[in-house]
Amino acid sequence: MKPHVDMKNLPGHIAIIMDGNGRWAKKFMMKRAAGHRAGATALRRLTERMNRDGFKMLTVYAFSTENWKREDEEVAYLMGLLHEYIQQYINDAKKNNVKMTVIGDVSRLEPSLRVKIANLKEITANNDGMLLCIALNYGGRDEIVRAADKIARAAMTGEHSSPLQEADFEAYLDTAGMPDPDLIIRTSGEMRLSNFLLWQAAYAEFFPIDVLWPDFKIDHLYEAVAQYQSRERRFGGR
Ligand code: FPP
Repeated sequence: MKPHVDMKNLPGHIAIIMDGNGRWAKKFMMKRAAGHRAGATALRRLTERMNRDGFKMLTVYAFSTENWKREDEEVAYLMGLLHEYIQQYINDAKKNNVKMTVIGDVSRLEPSLRVKIANLKEITANNDGMLLCIALNYGGRDEIVRAADKIARAAMTGEHSSPLQEADFEAYLDTAGMPDPDLIIRTSGEMRLSNFLLWQAAYAEFFPIDVLWPDFKIDHLYEAVAQYQSRERRFGGR
């Protein structure tokens, strides 16, 4: 049953750490690849429904800077799945009206995938539905270090006067111009941020849920939103 949710006060930006694809596959005695495929399908369904229900922004952790340490076969499968998934979004761009972007260091991705990502951003740029942001080769520390490096370079050319303000720094992050997440959901019962949106998560509400990602449905999302709406956010004040 859908918990009571105030649809006029939905969190503006929800972020999800999609965890548990491997365990889901194991539960059904399938290969990890099957878990990732089921995970991609779960994301697709959720995105469509969230867009229809009027959510404004979703960021998902699809591939972290640490995920390269997995077996070559699994990394290759995930990259192939991304190709396929992005292509589907390109094909459906007009119909589903979702706007899409990517955060993370895309320079390490294979050129054909980078071209596809650029294409995806361009094709969906004028859509005015939900913004879906995919974190790809993303790590919070990596993002902060890359931002610091860009600032150091800018300082050399005199583009910055010190002291640096938080807003100056934010302008160099991958998420420049995007709102911080209000609610971060992690599936599979784990309680860690795992290097996700470290800077941006400063005042986010965290909602762990003991459901494996491929089983995550819109009702689980509403459970998180209902919990979020029952909390009092003080942003450090009283
Ligand atoms: C974590 O589960 C999941 C990932 C590392 C990949 C997330 C990818 C998807 C949901 C599908 C692809 C996404 C797109 C955008 C096409 P895990 O493998 O760590 O699971 P485990 O902890 O149970 O082993």
